[in-house]
Amino acid sequence: MRVEQLSCNIGAELVAVNLSDAVHDDGLFSEIRAALLKHKVLFLRDQEFSRAEHVAFAERFGKLEDHPVAGSHPEYPGLVQIYKSPDSPIDRYENAWHTDATWREAPPLGCVLRCVECPDVGGDTMWANMAVAYEMLPGHIKAQIAGLRARHSIEASFGAAMPTEKRLALKAQYPDAEHPVVRTHPDTGEKVLFVNAFTTHFTNFHTKENVRFGQDANPGAALLLNYLISQAFIPEYQVRWRWKRNSVAIWDNRSTQHYAVMDYSPCHRRMERAGIIGDKPF
Ligand code: SIN
Repeated sequence: MRVEQLSCNIGAELVAVNLSDAVHDDGLFSEIRAALLKHKVLFLRDQEFSRAEHVAFAERFGKLEDHPVAGSHPEYPGLVQIYKSPDSPIDRYENAWHTDATWREAPPLGCVLRCVECPDVGGDTMWANMAVAYEMLPGHIKAQIAGLRARHSIEASFGAAMPTEKRLALKAQYPDAEHPVVRTHPDTGEKVLFVNAFTTHFTNFHTKENVRFGQDANPGAALLLNYLISQAFIPEYQVRWRWKRNSVAIWDNRSTQHYAVMDYSPCHRRMERAGIIGDKPF
């Protein structure tokens, strides 16, 4: 297996390897896992594997989970179908910088995404390294956000396009989660900036140091939150991947954000994503 770095801060392509071999080959799987921890997102071309092999490879990292809004393949639970066609409603938000499902108490460890069909041009996906984004923050911001916590909401994201009753039912089933603004990666020990498009507000911003006037409270906190969320937009922290049929991306969801560029309408784009259950951020 060759590992070819795609940008200075994130992403590498794995060449001369079949992911289906890693289902049974422990040595190969360990190499892939180590490369993932190092590069945070891995890319492969021409992976002709079956859906069963897709699931079996992803399950080497841990158990899979479905998504409450995006449906899974009827025969392969855990294999979420992200299918877009010219008449898809604009009510999904893959084209916002996000870490998958941070509205869960334990957001996914990572994902294995395969392209089933894509336009000739357009529909790329971008990833950002949120450990570098944290590392590059000015010292006074790092000091201010140490110990801060924030709320993440499915209601305010996927729920926002739903009629009220459906939205409230979704919220009852998936209450907002609270996570540290800076999480520690459980495997590498890196500090990671952990706010994204699912984050609604800080929960413990209201201290003597932060709040002099009421104006510093919610409006002031929102400015800081937006500044932190916007760090993922910095191109130096990013890599961009152009899809072809049977291309695969594997990402570490604990240390990255991603953005699926929606510039290809009215074409079809069909992706299948195995999301691996993660642990509670600390
Ligand atoms: C996702 O946001 O998890 C899907 C990314 C993509 O469709 O490229």
